[in-house]
Amino acid sequence: MAAPRVVNARPTRSKGDSAPRTRILKDNTIESVAEFINNGSAKNIIVMSGAGISTAAGIKDFRSPGTGLYDDLERFNLPYPEAVFDISFFKDNPDPFYRLAKELLPGRYRPTFTHYLLPLLAKKDLLLRSYTQNIDMLERLTGLDEDLLVEAHGSFATSECIKCSELCDNSYVRKHILKGEIPHCKECKGLVKPTITFFGEQLPDRFGDLAQVDFKKCDLLIVLGTSLQVEPFNSLITRVPASCPRLLINREKAGEDMHLGFDFDDKWKYPIQRDAVFLGNCDEGVRQLAKLCGWEGELQAMFEAGNIEMALAEELEALTLAKESEEEQKEIEERAKAEKENKSKDEGKGKAHEKENIENMLKDTHEDHHVPKNLDLQQEAESKSGTNNVPAGTDADAKDDVDAITDRLQATEISSSKKDSAATKGNKSS
Ligand code: OAD
Repeated sequence: MAAPRVVNARPTRSKGDSAPRTRILKDNTIESVAEFINNGSAKNIIVMSGAGISTAAGIKDFRSPGTGLYDDLERFNLPYPEAVFDISFFKDNPDPFYRLAKELLPGRYRPTFTHYLLPLLAKKDLLLRSYTQNIDMLERLTGLDEDLLVEAHGSFATSECIKCSELCDNSYVRKHILKGEIPHCKECKGLVKPTITFFGEQLPDRFGDLAQVDFKKCDLLIVLGTSLQVEPFNSLITRVPASCPRLLINREKAGEDMHLGFDFDDKWKYPIQRDAVFLGNCDEGVRQLAKLCGWEGELQAMFEAGNIEMALAEELEALTLAKESEEEQKEIEERAKAEKENKSKDEGKGKAHEKENIENMLKDTHEDHHVPKNLDLQQEAESKSGTNNVPAGTDADAKDDVDAITDRLQATEISSSKKDSAATKGNKSS
């Protein structure tokens, strides 16, 4: 499947006014889409979504001026905002992506009211498939059957080495991301990346394989929270049958500037009129659609039950993490204790050895008054006390050693001088 790419607006061919027109929807409102559902005409609904469905969960979208992620990446010093998700850039400089990944990492966010439309449609056997560009995995958290989901731009669910393609343990990658470190492959030391589709990479095979079949069968397309600026995902809206109604729920109009794109206002005078738009927040639009279809109570109940489940899961995760970090801490403490014990054993051995050396030296000094021996001892004492340019030990043990050596040194000097003077006397008398 082709790699994702941002598109520029393309001119669309306008049809003449004279062409006969078929109206699939009464008008371009959400009410007429609800009517289409209520009269049983929609049995294979495809939902396409983008970052706008997750903003209510606290996740930034990409392109909203001022609040979008791409307006907030100055801190990463990127040549252009999309570089953070560009595979060539990542190979040279993975740091910005990993710093951002720490903020985007799933686990801190809950599905929104809009996300629960998916399991609701599935429960009613109306959902053919949900195609999302989002990598936040919130669709999965609604309990939606994974068979019904296509994550077109991949997700954080798995990670692999970009060099040898070895799959990596996700908890290993997660731990690195949380610590602000870059994970490397245990096999070949290559860079490891979550299986998110970057610009310059192929979309997952599942996307191409299923889209080819699904979109021909689609009888109602609902597009939620996307600017429809990234190919090939955006072109999916053109792949439903010409008679398939399409509803966009978004804060702004989108997808109008492509061949066979949306035509909400009869601007292009297509032979078939079938597009509707709700301008506003996804949660509001979805609530209104659900209300018009008589599903609002059911959807609200699913959302609330989901929230309770999420709260429990978060609590469990927090407990697991706390337990893990307690165990980690215990392990660190035990390791430190063992190291300390080993060190003090070594030091004990060292001191005994040192003591033996000194005793031997003292013994030699008693037996032989050779001055350099005392000098050696003097140097040793000086080096331990920090004079003679040798770094001084700061602990009490070192000070005791120095004092003991100095005492013994003085004693040696006294006894040597006594011996020397006795010897001198002896020499003089002889
Ligand atoms: P965009 O940021 O391009 O578009 C989000 C759209 O959602 C905008 O039109 C917003 O006005 C709208 N929006 C935001 N919050 C909303 C809300 N609560 N209710 C309704 N509308 C809302 O995000 P996407 O279209 O998802 O790709 O971006 C597509 C791709 O571009 C992403 O998957 C990502 C990015 O580069 C890759 O990284 C490959």
